[in-house]
Amino acid sequence: MDPTAQRDSWLAQVAAAADEAALAAVETRLLAAEGELTQLLRLVTSLPKEQRPAFGKAANGVKQAVEAAIAAARTGFAARALQRELALPDFDPTEAAPAPRRGALHPITIVQNELVDLFTSLGFQWQDGPEVESEYFNFDALNIPADHPARESQDTFWCEPIDGGRRHLLRTHTSPVQVRTMQRFVKEHGPGPLKVIVPGRCFRSETVDKSHEHTFYQMEGLVVDRGVSTANLIHTMKTCLRVILERDVQVRLRPGFFPFVEPGFELDVNCPFCQGRGCSVCKRSGWIEILPCGMVHPNVLQQGGYDPEQFTGFAFGMGLQRVVMLRYGIDDIRQFMGGDLRFLRQFPEVPR
Ligand code: PHE
Repeated sequence: MDPTAQRDSWLAQVAAAADEAALAAVETRLLAAEGELTQLLRLVTSLPKEQRPAFGKAANGVKQAVEAAIAAARTGFAARALQRELALPDFDPTEAAPAPRRGALHPITIVQNELVDLFTSLGFQWQDGPEVESEYFNFDALNIPADHPARESQDTFWCEPIDGGRRHLLRTHTSPVQVRTMQRFVKEHGPGPLKVIVPGRCFRSETVDKSHEHTFYQMEGLVVDRGVSTANLIHTMKTCLRVILERDVQVRLRPGFFPFVEPGFELDVNCPFCQGRGCSVCKRSGWIEILPCGMVHPNVLQQGGYDPEQFTGFAFGMGLQRVVMLRYGIDDIRQFMGGDLRFLRQFPEVPR
């Protein structure tokens, strides 16, 4: 039999395919495992030996011709599709492609970075501490009595005790790093001047609403030295708030109670929304509570290995969400952990 008998018919079928789908159907009919051309090639094994080379050569020639025709037809379809697209009235091939959108830093990261820059420029060092903390550092070392309500399960996420050992918890504030840092510093250098900040994530078993989150960010500050006073505390806080709120600020101190500071304060800043005249954000008072702070309690200094007769210190615990909310005028704390990209995209893209 003549292996080229159907050549022209097959090429005609390829040529007749009007579009990509029709072409694919022809391709399957001829070249699939049971396709007409495949079967022709298979015939070679049934022939007497001396006829095989000639038959094989001719059949392969047909196959190559058909395959080439299919490839050419396919290129033609793609070129025509592009032509059609180029002919559309609103297609401008010279227009620059839109730049891909880059990610934005989370607003808490933005403000935390600025604060870290500011405090390191003032000589503070960045300290980290564990998010899973011991009861000792989170409470005992901070002079928080065993019957203090903050220890109860409604506020603290307790971990399952391991082998009846010491109890652990998710830290409820960054203050445990105060005593951790003092102890380590004293161990390495003996008691001496210390200035640290501790940005970090904290957890409390809160019912989540507009102003409460179970997961939140604080930045602790701790300064210990000979002769540190409340005046140093006020000055440092004013400097910090001026930079972070991007304006000149007035502050005032009210008494506040925290077992690890004495005296303890609530520091207020004049309302950024009404410049102190009184508005709904500051509840007509002209002041906004911004951060708790105070002079380090002698018992805490002692836990850290410092002699409270010789050393004094101040500490503050800034709620980062609160600062971010004030700075950007955000009124719902749930936005921060909500993962809504429309919220996150409002912040500046990471620079190229
Ligand atoms: N750790 C306290 C809290 O989370 C805040 C605080 C820090 C108060 C340092 C005074 C000094 O509520």
